[in-house]
Amino acid sequence: MANRRYLFGIVTLLLLSPLIKLAYDWIHLTETNDCGNMIQISVIISSFCVQLCLSSIHRGGILFPRESETRQVVSLDGIWNFAVPDTNNPLMGFQHHWYKTDLREVPKLEVIQMPVPASYNDVTTNWKIRDHVGLVWYDRTFYVPRHWSDVERIWVRFGSVSYAAQVWVNGHLVMSHEIGHLPFLSEVTQYLKFGKENRMTVACDNTLLADTVPQGRVSELENGRLHQDYTFDFFNYAGIDRPVYMYTTPKTYIDDITVFTIDVRESQALLQYNVSVLGDAGNTTCRISLLDKNKTVVAGSEESFGTLTVEHPRLWWPYLMHPEPGYLYSFQAELLDDNGDLVDKYTLPIGIRTITWTNTSLYINKQPVYLHGFGRHEDSDIRGKGFDAPLVLRDYDLIQWVGANAYRTSHYPYAEEIMDLADQRGIMIIDECPSVNTEFFSDTLLVKHKVSLSELIKRDKNRPAVIIWSASNEPRTQYSAAKNYFKLVTLFLILIT
Ligand SMILES: *[C@@H]1O[C@H](CO)[C@@H](O)[C@H](O)[C@H]1NC(C)=O
Ligand SMILES: *[C@@H]1O[C@H](CO)[C@@H](O)[C@H](O)[C@H]1NC(C)=O
Ligand SMILES: *[C@@H]1O[C@H](CO)[C@@H](O)[C@H](O)[C@H]1NC(C)=O
Ligand SMILES: *[C@@H]1O[C@H](CO)[C@@H](O)[C@H](O)[C@H]1NC(C)=O
Repeated sequence: MANRRYLFGIVTLLLLSPLIKLAYDWIHLTETNDCGNMIQISVIISSFCVQLCLSSIHRGGILFPRESETRQVVSLDGIWNFAVPDTNNPLMGFQHHWYKTDLREVPKLEVIQMPVPASYNDVTTNWKIRDHVGLVWYDRTFYVPRHWSDVERIWVRFGSVSYAAQVWVNGHLVMSHEIGHLPFLSEVTQYLKFGKENRMTVACDNTLLADTVPQGRVSELENGRLHQDYTFDFFNYAGIDRPVYMYTTPKTYIDDITVFTIDVRESQALLQYNVSVLGDAGNTTCRISLLDKNKTVVAGSEESFGTLTVEHPRLWWPYLMHPEPGYLYSFQAELLDDNGDLVDKYTLPIGIRTITWTNTSLYINKQPVYLHGFGRHEDSDIRGKGFDAPLVLRDYDLIQWVGANAYRTSHYPYAEEIMDLADQRGIMIIDECPSVNTEFFSDTLLVKHKVSLSELIKRDKNRPAVIIWSASNEPRTQYSAAKNYFKLVTLFLILIT
């Protein structure tokens, strides 16, 4: 029996598509600089991303913001200001430094209200917003408590913005991120005004081109408007789709945690873990406690890296495979200073389970498992791909009601809040990255594809529900360039998992 930690899959559908010809035409068009607008869009994307995104990939962890004895979390969700630049000059927001003032103070700019989280497309009755291609701008004001100033680091984290995004705090660029459906964060302490009003501005660009993940192409219509095309079979909703949090960590803080199950037996389970600490890490010690649901400590350690042995473990089982599916322990990491006082604390829910396979069977905790389930989508009326808790809970009830135990996050990573529920309810996940229907295989794309996989795996590596990483959905693997491309993608996956 193979005994690797993760399965990889490429969901391949061979499509002999007339669209491929169209796409080649488009590439030709941009190469020969026939169309001013396309060049302009490429400029936006490249000013966003080529230097910025690739150089500002967050090297550390991307742990979900959780409150604790040492951390405070504040939501920045709500109704933000929203504006669409004039289609005749899509870059005007950059030219006129819209991020330096409130959008409502920009002369002649029509500013409307927009909920966050939500895709912006279907919120209004204006078809021009629904079908808009290019940049849109958001801003809002917020306060930072005065007492946060000396002791803390302050971070801002977006659950996802589709697709390319830049974020300013009080006019300072604090982060850039290109790929949708994935979280990004940055420390913003030095840009904040403590005990005063602050402003956050977000520019978001939904343009999909041959070198974005996923791919698309843009054409100019007779009326001068831009039209976005793509071959994937869902609407490219855009905007600030997931919650936005501002949160604190101490100056010395837990940056990342990795926990996985090495082996399970009836009497014993063996876990391996690694807690990474940033800041003045040398002056702290790490205390690890594993707590069951009754808050009883069942294993512990005084090392930041090592193994834990759990006697008579309660295993994480899929829905319908066990009377208590989705059993989660709390992996509690505490940093202590020389005096034994608490510096930082982060508690991560984890499940104890192994996944193994042969050429014909898949096993959870050494028991064969049969997947019953769906390819899903996050979409719903009005909110598009915007995270919506009632909808998500209802969907899980439907999934369980029909007796399903699995789904694929077709065709992009889903909200972390949705993934938490899969962990809790024992619903197995085939976790997809946002590379869908890829048909042009370039080095630039490969770099971004790898970024999307490393962000996805960094985000979801500790989730018991995730049983398979999907490297790509329905890529055009019949093209010869796909062979070497996916060889490199697979090697990269083996390297990072
Ligand atoms: C623990 O994680 C950190 C950060 O990812 C990494 O630098 C370090 O090598 C890991 N330690 C071990 C022993 O794997
Ligand atoms: C950290 O340790 C160094 C020496 O090991 C000491 O000089 C320094 O004061 C300590 N810092 C804190 C914040 O305790
Ligand atoms: C938690 O407590 C309940 C009630 O006392 C008990 O039935 C259960 O076995 C305990 N669970 C564990 C994991 O110890
Ligand atoms: C799976 O099948 C291949 C090809 O038949 C074979 O070489 C390989 O040993 C098999 N692997 C396992 C784990 O059975």
